Amino acid sequence: MTENFELKVSNLSFRYSNTSRNAFSNINFSILKGQIICIEGVSGSGKTTLAEVLMGMHTDYLKGYLEGSIFFNNNDLTDKPIKERALKMGLLFQDAYSYCFTDNVLDEIVFNAVWQGIDRQIIEEKYKKVAELFNFMELEKKNPLELSHGSRKILLLSSLLVSDPSIYILDEVFSSLDEKNIKAVTRIVLEKASEGHSFILLEHPGNNYLSYKERINIEHQGEGQHE
Ligand SMILES: Nc1ncnc2c1ncn2[C@@H]1O[C@H](COP(=O)(O)OP(=O)(O)OP(=O)(O)O)[C@@H](O)[C@H]1O
Ligand SMILES: [Mg+2]
Repeated sequence: MTENFELKVSNLSFRYSNTSRNAFSNINFSILKGQIICIEGVSGSGKTTLAEVLMGMHTDYLKGYLEGSIFFNNNDLTDKPIKERALKMGLLFQDAYSYCFTDNVLDEIVFNAVWQGIDRQIIEEKYKKVAELFNFMELEKKNPLELSHGSRKILLLSSLLVSDPSIYILDEVFSSLDEKNIKAVTRIVLEKASEGHSFILLEHPGNNYLSYKERINIEHQGEGQHE
């Protein structure tokens, strides 16, 4: 497994260039190998923006201004592009509809890992495990566009599990999942954490699917909050 690591986020603030207020302000946390933390905030508090900035999407996709720093093992990742973070961090997008790249479930699950150059045999072993865990066997040839939102989310999570980064960033992973999949996701998160992977879960307040060691509150930056 991976050696020890630490991700350290200091005084991180981001403002989209077309707005006058920050999407999020002054976020501080660090996460070590095997830890699970939850970043909680109401709708519009900046969870998705934070998740995307941690992945490096501000370097060529999000238009805006970033302050503060993101360090991985004392290496400054703050302005490093997405590809330099790919094996360290992986993001499960909140919007499971926007991010499917292929026309069948099997290819979609292995797409990221193949693209990252991960060994074929390792990909096959990991694929088999997630396909069994989430019962994807009979869906292998289906077009991802035909799946429900919850199944698409599981599909994208499976793809992430096959590329298997050190740190998983999961943006509202439990929303639109049925009870069976909620249980399967909590099980796999705990199992992977015990193997040394870390998890940053971004959630609305009050989510108690996992007992988090650390909860970080992300304050809404607007006038009042909307749920
Ligand atoms: N592309 C964008 N351009 C400008 N402002 C944006 C953009 N995306 C999001 N915002 C704004 O940034 C703030 C944070 O939004 P974000 O989607 O990160 O919040 P969130 O906590 O993920 O919300 P939710 O719980 O609804 O998913 C909001 O005020 C939102 O309107
Ligand atoms: Mg969001």
